[in-house]
Amino acid sequence: MRTFPLVAAAALAAGSAIGIAACRTTQAAATSHVVPGGDAGRGKEAIVAYGCGSCHNIPGVSGAHGMVGPPLDHFAQRSFIAGEVPNTGDFLIRWITVPQSIEPGTAMPNLGVSDGRARDIAAYLMTLH
Ligand code: HEC
Repeated sequence: MRTFPLVAAAALAAGSAIGIAACRTTQAAATSHVVPGGDAGRGKEAIVAYGCGSCHNIPGVSGAHGMVGPPLDHFAQRSFIAGEVPNTGDFLIRWITVPQSIEPGTAMPNLGVSDGRARDIAAYLMTLH
C-alpha cells in the first residue's frame, strides 16, 4: 500500500491540470467581446425599436428601465449570458435572436430580431463597461 499516496497525488495533479485548462478556456472566451461589423449607434436605436427597455434597465437608452429581466448595466464585464454560455459577441447575437436556443424555457421572448440588427445591439451592449 506504499504506492497509494503516489497514485492519489498523481490523480490530484491530473485533476487540477484539467481544472486550470478549463478555467483558461472560459477566460479566453469571455474576453472576446468584439462584435465585428456591429454598429453600436444603430444598436442603440434597435434596442428602442424592439422595446428591450420594457424588460431591462439599459444604461444610455432613454426609457429603458424595465425590471422584468436582469439589468444590463456593465454587460461587457459579465462572464456569462443568462448564466449559460460565455459572454462573447457570437453567443450574444444568438441570445438576442433566439434566446431559447441557449436556454430552453427562458422567460426572454424571441422578438424576431434579424442577425444584422442583433449584431448592432450586441455591439452596443459590449460598450457597457
Ligand atoms: C418580455 C421581457 C423581455 C424583453 C422584451 C427582452 N428581454 Fe432580455 N431577458 C428577459 C429575461 C426574463 C431574461 C433572463 C433570462 C434568463 O436568465 O433565463 C433576459 C436576459 C437577457 C440577457 C442576458 C442577461 C444576463 O444577465 O445574462 C440579455 C443580454 C438580454 N436579455 C438582452 C435583451 C435584448 C437586447 C432585448 C431586445 C431585443 C431583450 N433582452 C428583450 C426578458 C426580456
